[in-house]
Amino acid sequence: MAKLSVDNLLGIKHLKKEDIDLIFTTADHFKEVINRPIKKVPSLRDITIANLFFENSTRTKLSFELAEKRLSADIINFSASQSSVKKGESLIDTVNNILSMKVDIIVMRHPNEGAGDFLSKHIQAKIINAGDGSHEHPTQALLDTYSIREKLGNVEGKKVVIIGDILHSRVALSNIYALQLQGAKVKICGPTTLIPRHITKLGVGYENNIKKALEWCDVANVLRVQHERMDIKYFPSIREYKQLFGINKELLDSINKDIVIMHPGPINRGVELTSDVADSKQSIILNQVENGVAIRMAIIYLLAEQIKRE
Ligand code: CP
Repeated sequence: MAKLSVDNLLGIKHLKKEDIDLIFTTADHFKEVINRPIKKVPSLRDITIANLFFENSTRTKLSFELAEKRLSADIINFSASQSSVKKGESLIDTVNNILSMKVDIIVMRHPNEGAGDFLSKHIQAKIINAGDGSHEHPTQALLDTYSIREKLGNVEGKKVVIIGDILHSRVALSNIYALQLQGAKVKICGPTTLIPRHITKLGVGYENNIKKALEWCDVANVLRVQHERMDIKYFPSIREYKQLFGINKELLDSINKDIVIMHPGPINRGVELTSDVADSKQSIILNQVENGVAIRMAIIYLLAEQIKRE
């Protein structure tokens, strides 16, 4: 049976195109499973997973938890805000205590870039990065590109623009890697203050004009303005941001093509997207969330297969 080329899922940067193909084929199978009357398989009855969330989450946390339950794994959930981290316990001590309870796979969201990578050098369990600071969010990029493949038949050759707060986004970097591995053309669009200085070295184009960006693309992946990560003002006002980079129905109607609208969530409604766009037929935002469960089942299943072989 085919296997992933990596031992952990720390970032898309470490994956090969064949890994993504394998994850998508496995996700196709699990998507069929979760649409059956009985949405569960016994594959992971002998596997225990700890979900460690050091930062808030709705979609990723619930999606991982559901994926694990659909695979019949035993799970434990850890939220930093209700834990002994608040008493000063370190990341390594926290994880080693959890691992002593015989845990096989760690799913971790952490506010610090490289937290999963750091942990992988100190522990034996498999690690899945559920978002590390402004660095990578690999499962989001996999479910995003899987959703493009589902909607448009293929990712190869498609033009995708990532719009908004690229500077603070882990979704942007993971999407750029995932899209390029699959042969898509990628542009970014947003205020120059929210564009990382060297990002065009990754081979992506930059477009400052939102209308031109939308006219160019097949897919617009719109990102949230991450106010909580901003310690200075990056643009004069929300009103100005909306005028220059917000997507509303009038703007979409002025473009002579039906582009696909995506957003990883949570949405600042009325800022980066108006509700009539977020809830329109062009939007696949809720399909992304649905596909997140199948994608996460696929990744967990493939990493668990490695444990069973060891
Ligand atoms: N897309 C995403 O990561 O959302 P959450 O922060 O709610 O998990």
